[in-house]
Amino acid sequence: MQRILVIHGPNLNLLGQREPEIYGTLTLETINDALQQTASELGCCLTSFQSNSEGALVDAIQGAIGCYDGILINPAAYTHTSVALRDALAATGIPFVEVHLSNIHQREPFRHHSYLAPLAVGQICGFGMDSYLLGLRALFNHSKSR
Ligand code: DQA
Repeated sequence: MQRILVIHGPNLNLLGQREPEIYGTLTLETINDALQQTASELGCCLTSFQSNSEGALVDAIQGAIGCYDGILINPAAYTHTSVALRDALAATGIPFVEVHLSNIHQREPFRHHSYLAPLAVGQICGFGMDSYLLGLRALFNHSKSR
């Protein structure tokens, strides 16, 4: 059975109350529940992790070696700043999909660049919770066919 690790970056613990006009009103718990439901439909095993700390996110990525077949990640603000997360993902060699609730390419110019995207299997953004659900299906199908 495929094992997938979902990683949520900083401030995503505040979903539901954080800038709802941009990120919607769903909470992180609701998104994690929907991911679990899709994972059981697909027949894969899914674990979710959120942290506001860059170091904890690096540790989680490193800890995935040998334990997970794919990583679904919303790096949040670290998307646009973190060489450390990029290096951690490169070091694991685990296929990953980058997702964002909002369409980062439609927003401020500093959000247009991702340090992670060039290493990702793909990036999905702009669909709210569906970015995660589509990303999970895409990652699952990608890893299945490898
Ligand atoms: C985000 C987009 C990022 O630019 C932002 O810093 C976030 C959330 C998204 O899901 O739309 O925190 O990753």
